[in-house]
Amino acid sequence: MSEKRSFFTHETLEKNIGWLIICTILVVSIAGLVQIVPLFFQHSTTEPDAGIKPYSALRLMGRDIYIREGCVGCHSQQVRTLQGDVERYGHYSTAGESVYDHPFLWGSKRTGPDLARVGGRYSDDWQRIHLRNPRDVVPESVMPSYAWLEKTPLQTNDVRDRMRALRRLGVPYTDAEIEQAPATLAGKTEEDAMVAYLQELGIAKRNVRVDTAAAAQPAATPAKE
Ligand code: HEC
Repeated sequence: MSEKRSFFTHETLEKNIGWLIICTILVVSIAGLVQIVPLFFQHSTTEPDAGIKPYSALRLMGRDIYIREGCVGCHSQQVRTLQGDVERYGHYSTAGESVYDHPFLWGSKRTGPDLARVGGRYSDDWQRIHLRNPRDVVPESVMPSYAWLEKTPLQTNDVRDRMRALRRLGVPYTDAEIEQAPATLAGKTEEDAMVAYLQELGIAKRNVRVDTAAAAQPAATPAKE
């Protein structure tokens, strides 16, 4: 056949690896932008959920120790929308819960349970014993001991810098909060900071959920058999 093929056919792509690569990159880039860019402008992903506040100085230090100790290597902090996750841990995680997390600690590995909603699940004492030697409360645990946290005084000299750095990234700390931060850490240990951090994880979202559930059911509903 002497029919002359146009350059703009599918065949050009299928028979020419160079063009295939270029056009694939082009399509994936545009599709990626279409998917990602709107998220930067949506309130549900850029605004904090109701009740979500910036970390107090003590919790912020605890969070930084959590990062330093690599807890994220064994613990995720994202409840997926899957039924099994929601039944075990509570309300699935939302973007608005993580707006003050720099960096986020969603993780991707669950050697231990998800911690996104661990706040208030155990007493402070349980958390302390568990951090010092997990096997004292969970005999079969493979979690390492973090006994030194109890004996290590919390550093207070750079907390203002940490908060200022976060403010640059959009966390609304006031000058007064930054000013007073070192005083609120005086006399605390690293363990105090870690327990404070853990005990409030997911609390705000859980409280909001209870409130809305109560509002949605004003009248007493008879229990189903
Ligand atoms: C080698 C993996 C590993 C590392 C690292 C690790 N954990 Fe764990 N963690 C586990 C396992 C496994 C469990 C479940 C058994 C238990 O409760 O000890 C657990 C349980 C927990 C629990 C109880 C969760 C629940 O819902 O019962 C908390 C809280 C916790 N870890 C905090 C931490 C913190 C904080 C760090 C970092 C200082 C850390 N973990 C580091 C493996 C790990």
